[in-house]
Amino acid sequence: MGDILSPRKYRDDEGYEDSIRPRSLDEFIGQDKVKKNLEVFIGSSKKRLEPLDHVLISGPPGLGKTTLARIIANELNSNFVYTVSNAFQKVGDLVAILTNLSKGDVLFIDEIHRLKPSFEEVLYSAMEDFSVSIMIGEGPGAKSIKISLPKFTLIGATTRVGLLTSPLISRFGIILRLDYYSDEDMVMICERTCKIIGLNISREGMIEVAKRSRGTPRILNRILRRIRDFVVVEGLDKVDLDFIKGVLSRLEIDEEGLDEVDRKILSTIIEKYQGGPIGLKTLSASIGEEEETIEDVYEPFLIQKGFIKRTPRGRVATELAYKHLAIKKNDNSLF
Ligand SMILES: Nc1ncnc2c1ncn2[C@@H]1O[C@H](COP(=O)(O)OP(=O)(O)OP(=O)(O)O)[C@@H](O)[C@H]1O
Ligand SMILES: [Mg+2]
Repeated sequence: MGDILSPRKYRDDEGYEDSIRPRSLDEFIGQDKVKKNLEVFIGSSKKRLEPLDHVLISGPPGLGKTTLARIIANELNSNFVYTVSNAFQKVGDLVAILTNLSKGDVLFIDEIHRLKPSFEEVLYSAMEDFSVSIMIGEGPGAKSIKISLPKFTLIGATTRVGLLTSPLISRFGIILRLDYYSDEDMVMICERTCKIIGLNISREGMIEVAKRSRGTPRILNRILRRIRDFVVVEGLDKVDLDFIKGVLSRLEIDEEGLDEVDRKILSTIIEKYQGGPIGLKTLSASIGEEEETIEDVYEPFLIQKGFIKRTPRGRVATELAYKHLAIKKNDNSLF
């Protein structure tokens, strides 16, 4: 059960996500600033008959980075070549993909922050002057030859833009940042998914699901799938707010959309460490979750909701966190 609120993707999600994934910018809900700019950049590239500049898409998991990359390729009428950075074993694998591209193709590299430095160097020249240099032979007789590549568009996606090196970032002409969706946008996404999967939920019910989905479409869609399970088993045509609340409580999702791990993070900071500050390592050891998972999956949402703050000395629980967990703040500070 615990995983339903994880924005991370699971094998189980794949076919389902594919069936509800927006295919065009028009179908892509929210992120208006990003969309408006993209329309201009794509329109200009089409008019000039030149490939789109390289694009970097960053943001927390499940917000639509891969979806947007596919949409960009669709809108450009280009081929979409999907890769994940850790799929490359040796530099030759990346070179082979690059040399197989055709003019105007979109090459997507997911989790681009995990690319090893030697692979990154290949990308530098590929992105900048559409060429790669490869070594032929070994020892003193080895020669470097330069191969030209067709003009293509690289789209990199990352949840951790802070881990990218500046030479790599500087080679992207377009940098897009996706942020958590507003409640209104989440309601619209909810309506869209319900229509596609044939789920009939009252307006209040949809608002409730939207509110508890952490501003993350992937989580919203996953909760809807679980609701559908309950609806199917109970043989209902239409469900209302009470039914939705009942399902959400069965799924252990609270009013703010927090799950067990979120609550554990907050209660640990408050109860074991008097509200903080507490370092990431200590927090990770105390709750038994990996540091990376806390930083990538849980913390951004808790910060965005105003439950924790990051200070130079570590994480601090806010008044809101005390209130949410109904813990009285024991204020011993002298100031
Ligand atoms: N703007 C949107 N409108 C409607 N649905 C969306 C939108 N963004 C994402 N989705 C839905 O959310 C699902 C998850 O999106 P996607 O896989 O693109 O996220 P991601 O940012 O690539 O996540 P990860 O970081 O895990 O790779 C998609 O299958 C899609 O159905
Ligand atoms: Mg993705």
